[in-house]
Amino acid sequence: MTESPFAVRSASPATLGRALAAMGRDRPVVFDDLMAAPLVLRHKDVSAALRDSTVFSTAFYGTPPMETMMIAHNGPAHLRQRRIHNRFFSPVASARYTDRVRAVAGRAVSRLRGRTRADLVDDMIARYPMAVFVDLLGIPDDLGDRGLALVRAIVTWLGSPMNEELAEPGRTAFSELRAHTETLVDPADPGDNLLGDVVRAHLAEGAFSADECVMAVISLLLGGFETTIQMLSGTLASLLLNGRALSAVRADHDLIDGAIEEAFRWANPSAGLYRLVTEDTELAGTTFTQGSMVYLCIAGAHFDETVHHDPDTFDLGRGASHLGFGLGPHYCAGAPLARIEVRAAVETLLDEFPDLRLDPDDPPVFHYGARGFVQHGTEKLSVLL
Ligand code: HEM
Repeated sequence: MTESPFAVRSASPATLGRALAAMGRDRPVVFDDLMAAPLVLRHKDVSAALRDSTVFSTAFYGTPPMETMMIAHNGPAHLRQRRIHNRFFSPVASARYTDRVRAVAGRAVSRLRGRTRADLVDDMIARYPMAVFVDLLGIPDDLGDRGLALVRAIVTWLGSPMNEELAEPGRTAFSELRAHTETLVDPADPGDNLLGDVVRAHLAEGAFSADECVMAVISLLLGGFETTIQMLSGTLASLLLNGRALSAVRADHDLIDGAIEEAFRWANPSAGLYRLVTEDTELAGTTFTQGSMVYLCIAGAHFDETVHHDPDTFDLGRGASHLGFGLGPHYCAGAPLARIEVRAAVETLLDEFPDLRLDPDDPPVFHYGARGFVQHGTEKLSVLL
């Protein structure tokens, strides 16, 4: 039996995608023991399934006690919640947060001043998305690393529903995070900050209970922490591993957005997404039965040569051709904010450290499950400053 590509550790974040795409050239669907599901490997099939959230459903995210989570819903119930999110996290709305995010990035990078080496993940990136949320939402920073651990336990459980061992720690973490979030959300006096605005918007829409407001806030916390950590380390690693791209970006900051989009393809942490099949159906010439789970390989789609010319090459001019934020109805609600966060951190770091490079004595290792999370990434990014 050949080893699952999800078991491989590699010096390059692109190895997983390459391996999945190579499998996809032979067969569009392959069962993988480690992921305990059939892998859908080709771009057109992954895209088709992501678009069809009726048949390839996200309902499994709504395991009790998380029934009211936006991502678990489809159709009108989903749209209603999504409309509210879009008011605060659309590209235009998110652009308003740029200066504040930059200030948070500046503080995170300034902590590295005076040092000659660092692990960018632990010394900077890991606490940055939390700092952005605390600042934007206007909530106290009293959870610290505990908040990150809770979010990770919950998302790891939801993002890997086939692994029953993750359910109990996930539920326990959810209870603690919900209890904490309940202390922040007061429907009677929502507060004069973004958190208050989000709560007020839910109440104004009507038919939302206080519990649903709490869940809306939790949705943001679950969506925006570890994903951003992995994406930022993946983007920085991509530049540090591709010297020509790094030099080009240093010389012309207008290229940073292109570099970030290409890193979302080349090094995207969302290796894939599970879906629950709601009726017997056929995809990629394969029959999927009602009630089964399927794993849609975003990383494989990113290296599919029928869509991405010369996919191994890290190409600054490729544009936003990736599925790193998903696709279809559940396309990431925080994508504009995530882009602002990644851009602010990359730009600030490159400006502050003109000689930033990988530490040759401690190269990064990319693997699925890094930092105990259900994504592909690295635990550490050791650099010389
Ligand atoms: C670079 C960082 C990020 C990445 C790679 C990412 C990735 C994704 C992906 C792949 C999905 C689709 C999940 C699925 O269809 O099963 C998603 C959904 C979602 N994301 Fe993000 N995300 C990021 C940052 C954020 C941020 C900062 C927020 C909050 C402001 C956020 C909030 C959400 C929400 C609420 C959903 C569910 C959307 C829905 O069900 O309609 N994400 N994200």
